[in-house]
Amino acid sequence: MTSIDPANLPKHIAIIMDGNGRWAKKRLLNRIEGHKKGTDAVRNIVRASREIGIEYLTLYAFSEENWKRPKSEVSALMTLLKEFLISEFSEMQENGIRLNAIGRTEKLPEAVRKTLSETITKTSSNRDMVLTLALSYGGRQEIADSVKRIAFLIEKGDISVNEVTEDLISGCLYTAQIPDPDLLIRTSGEYRISNFLLWQIAYTELYITPTLWPDFGKDEYLAAIADFQGRERRFGGT
Ligand code: FPP
Repeated sequence: MTSIDPANLPKHIAIIMDGNGRWAKKRLLNRIEGHKKGTDAVRNIVRASREIGIEYLTLYAFSEENWKRPKSEVSALMTLLKEFLISEFSEMQENGIRLNAIGRTEKLPEAVRKTLSETITKTSSNRDMVLTLALSYGGRQEIADSVKRIAFLIEKGDISVNEVTEDLISGCLYTAQIPDPDLLIRTSGEYRISNFLLWQIAYTELYITPTLWPDFGKDEYLAAIADFQGRERRFGGT
């Protein structure tokens, strides 16, 4: 197993979990089976993150664009999400994991919203790791919502145009309470960002692997972290 330096961990890891459909297709299975296997991978990576000592883990679980998928697939994903929240609750409590969600979660079905908000409330005093699920999330929509909030503050006279700074914009995003990701992992070999955390990843290190999400496990997760630790981050400086 790859060894990593515990003194130089990425504080925040974000993951674009891609490839569930292809994983299923390769096995002549229904796409939903891929999402089920993908849910097992989520469970393993959440557990591994906590063991390693990652403070913030953000998972792209459902994008704004995912609503365009067939109704049956959307509905299966919603069911898996709800089941995941219920089955993982006790482990979140035992391991000090606080659940958080970003995105236009008001669009989720009532039953999912209810379980989600109950889990967020019940885990709110946990302090060891923040697990953020991006649900009905789109980076451009997030920026548009932030601009609206700022325009509203200016319109009310609470702030002036000169007070619009990068920090103010960051503070009006859904991720206001979360540091920017240090490492972004994308599985299934696609070299794109797919509208994920557009503002926040300005200086994030990228790790793209051909491994399909259901096959992504702790070994490769450690390899991604070790790869990150071997990089020199300059943040635009020399
Ligand atoms: C991409 O695979 C994955 C998704 C659209 C959603 C990710 C969902 C899960 C991992 C399961 C449920 C989530 C949680 C948090 C329990 P794809 O369908 O786009 O794969 P493809 O590109 O190969 O078709």
